[in-house]
Amino acid sequence: MKHESVETNAGLLIILTLAVISIGGLVEIVPLFYINDTIEEVEGVRPYTPLEQRGRDIYVREGCYTCHSQMVRPFRDEMLRYGHYSLAAESQYDHPFQWGSKRTGPDLARVGGKYSNEWQVQHLIDPQSLVPESIMPGYPWLATTPLDYSDIEGRMIALKRVGVPYSINRDEFEANVEHFGGETALMLDINRAEDNLIAQAQAGNYDGDPSFISEMDAIVAYLQVLGTMVDFNEYSEGYFAEFR
Ligand code: HEC
Repeated sequence: MKHESVETNAGLLIILTLAVISIGGLVEIVPLFYINDTIEEVEGVRPYTPLEQRGRDIYVREGCYTCHSQMVRPFRDEMLRYGHYSLAAESQYDHPFQWGSKRTGPDLARVGGKYSNEWQVQHLIDPQSLVPESIMPGYPWLATTPLDYSDIEGRMIALKRVGVPYSINRDEFEANVEHFGGETALMLDINRAEDNLIAQAQAGNYDGDPSFISEMDAIVAYLQVLGTMVDFNEYSEGYFAEFR
């Protein structure tokens, strides 16, 4: 059959196109029925604490995702620059996820611990004071705006509804102790959310002023936890290949 006869016959072209797409679809979809889980089994990934979660809300509110992705792709150049490629497990509690597709600035999936709190605060207030050629805008109001955490329980309940394992009753709490350990389980307890948030902000002293809980405290707490939950030294190099 000549290629020309396919291209000049719309009906035939549609049928052949559908056949090709179906084969491509089957190749992608069928394997999903033969693996138990598309999320890697790793230790350490937990939902965000109330303070980190508020920081994440501010990150979304300010539109940081319009310039920053949060997904290290499995390519050599990415891994040399940012570290181990991102796992599905690492964003399993993210609603909405922040993978992004636009990188005007660098990927932030593993930025936690890369800089000090002081650096993060100064950079958010005035990026050009640290990176003169930066085109990132400043967010100075984060440091002076008190963090509104009056609705933190409601926010956690909403996330719980879409599958994040925050606990609200005894059974759920016990289940979290089993799964995440006692210390983390306390942080995931909705009944203690406000106390936990205040305690973490004061102990962490992210913005340099323990007496004032600002939006800066929350966003820096969030940035500093990104990519730090999984200890990749615990896994051998080929371990994650089976999930791909
Ligand atoms: C207009 C695009 C733009 C927006 C919006 C933006 N950034 Fe950036 N960001 C950049 C650029 C460009 C850099 C690299 C230069 C620099 O370090 O300032 C950067 C760097 C960073 C870094 C340092 C990353 C590293 O590995 O060195 C952090 C952290 C960061 N941004 C956080 C944020 C946060 C949080 C927000 C939202 C409050 C935000 N950015 C909004 C463009 C942006």
